[in-house]
Amino acid sequence: MKIAIYPGSFDPVTLGHLDVIERAASLFDRLIVVVMHNQTKTPMFTLEERQDFLRRITSHLDNVEIDAFSGLLADYADKRGACTIVKGLRAVSDFEYEFQMALANRKLNPDLDTAFLMTSAKYMYLSSSIVKDIAAHGGSISGFVSPQIEDEVLKRMRKED
Ligand code: PNS
Repeated sequence: MKIAIYPGSFDPVTLGHLDVIERAASLFDRLIVVVMHNQTKTPMFTLEERQDFLRRITSHLDNVEIDAFSGLLADYADKRGACTIVKGLRAVSDFEYEFQMALANRKLNPDLDTAFLMTSAKYMYLSSSIVKDIAAHGGSISGFVSPQIEDEVLKRMRKED
């Protein structure tokens, strides 16, 4: 059984993330999407909210599980018996940081490889930060996040005003 892990902040999950999840789910027997802490970011949404959004938009994918973890990704992969980390690449600008993390994770856990999936061209510009910025300024985020979570994301961003 080939188990892969797709880690990220998912603050909130975008259609670009969903595109990577759907691609990875078709390549592996099981895909664990894990919400993790990025040391360089302060999340807008709670861990529970981010997991809830992910669960709602992946309910059509039988082999996808949603989880959260607060330690090292390499340790989590070991704990879950995963052989591959899946990461989405949007542009060359993502590459340097992702390459660094892939090598560091392999050093921490030599059995762990990272597979990069190219996002669809239509989502190349998309990021959680862009979604939050548009929502915070009263814009429409339709076409950026799944319809199942669109209202909730907007409502939550307005509460922050
Ligand atoms: O969506 P993001 O913010 O780019 O995801 C980054 C994330 C959460 C995958 C990364 O920060 C991470 O792996 N955090 C867990 C802690 C860890 O293992 N750090 C070492 C990575 S080399």
